[in-house]
Amino acid sequence: MSPEVFAGIDVGSYSVVCVIAEVDEDGVLHITGAGQAPTDGSVMEGVTVDLQGTARAVEKAVAEAESLSSWKISEAALSISGPHVRGFPGRGTVNVDMEDDFVSGKVEWPDIEDAIETAQLIKLPRESMVLRKEVCGYTIDGSGMLQRPPVGLRAERLTADIYMITADRTAVLNLEQAVHDAGIAVRSIFPAACASARSVLTEDEMQMGVVLADIGASTTDIAVFHSGALAHLSVIPVGGESITRSLQQMRIPRHEAERLKRETVDLARGRRERGGEITVSTFGGRNTLPVSEETINEIAYRSVGGLMGDILCELRQAGIQESDVPAGMVLSGGTSRLRGLAEACSRVVGLPVEVGRPGGVDVSSSLIENSEFAAAVGLVLLTMGEEIEQEQRKGSSPLDRAAAKIRGLIRKLR
Ligand SMILES: Nc1ncnc2c1ncn2[C@@H]1O[C@H](COP(=O)(O)OP(=O)(O)OP(=O)(O)O)[C@@H](O)[C@H]1O
Ligand SMILES: [Mg+2]
Repeated sequence: MSPEVFAGIDVGSYSVVCVIAEVDEDGVLHITGAGQAPTDGSVMEGVTVDLQGTARAVEKAVAEAESLSSWKISEAALSISGPHVRGFPGRGTVNVDMEDDFVSGKVEWPDIEDAIETAQLIKLPRESMVLRKEVCGYTIDGSGMLQRPPVGLRAERLTADIYMITADRTAVLNLEQAVHDAGIAVRSIFPAACASARSVLTEDEMQMGVVLADIGASTTDIAVFHSGALAHLSVIPVGGESITRSLQQMRIPRHEAERLKRETVDLARGRRERGGEITVSTFGGRNTLPVSEETINEIAYRSVGGLMGDILCELRQAGIQESDVPAGMVLSGGTSRLRGLAEACSRVVGLPVEVGRPGGVDVSSSLIENSEFAAAVGLVLLTMGEEIEQEQRKGSSPLDRAAAKIRGLIRKLR
């Protein structure tokens, strides 16, 4: 029997990342291929602005992942980002059919679906569409919040609490089109924050209360979890590009600023700690000038402070208090590779801050050790989870059904 294969494509402002994973008989995902290709301005603030450019980057990232994997993919799950991606809570209650005049009926899957459907009956702006509905929990006849669907339990009333994520319809269609133009069918679309959270956060953190901040190039995808459920999701239009730009204030070219950010900045060293001098080329590349490491660090530190201030402001506006997130903040995305970022952020936000590594898969894979792969790894995990859930609803063996379905969609290369 051929194993099941899942693919995830994370389309970002800086690059497209593709991950291909294979599930073994024990249900463990093994990353068999990963690829990355720059988007070169075809995605801005998470939104596709150049179809051909995005399609080319998708093709390249997919081809790189396929060349390492033994699989050719024809469909994949996508991530979506951009400030148009937003979340809202919703609640829906339905009556469960009585068995007779005295005995409450049993909750069935259609009751669960009806309650979720009712919870999402809110008027949306015309340009928005519902991207996902995350179920936060269920209540039957005033019980405490239940995490699992209470199928089979007797009840008179069933309430579903959901967290709904909406996105701009046009942005979704353009993203789908670009991926379609690259020859890949879209299996499902997840908000990038949910995808990264799935791969870097632990169950414990999500139960306790935690903030996930995936800091990319020009967006930061934020997801807050509490009591095991999604409590807030938003995207703010700031990321690591702002640090590069602030370093450019020293009148140096972009590539020099990017190099300093990656190779020289170390925020753990403290703002005013004395360091050596670095030689950088000037704008036109005709001359060089010396810059002190202290100055470089100071500029980067200020820029990171601004970025963290924006994240904190967003959390405050959403009504999230420090006490709601005792597990602190976990960072992912390419910018989380900035040296000393976690320590600096912790000083600014006054919470424990750690850099998350993509997990939930066979972690021996060095293909995905960098944190900009978090969202793509999360996509394959979410896809597998979705597949298992659907099969459970149908009441058949999840892996058997998933295998049958996916076998028809993929073609083995060698
Ligand atoms: N070693 C490093 N140190 C500091 N920053 C880095 C490092 N490596 C990558 N980055 C930064 O990470 C950013 C890209 O991250 P990522 O690939 O997560 O972005 P993206 O998902 O394409 O963009 P977005 O999420 O904003 O749409 C760039 O700003 C890049 O400069
Ligand atoms: Mg990103």
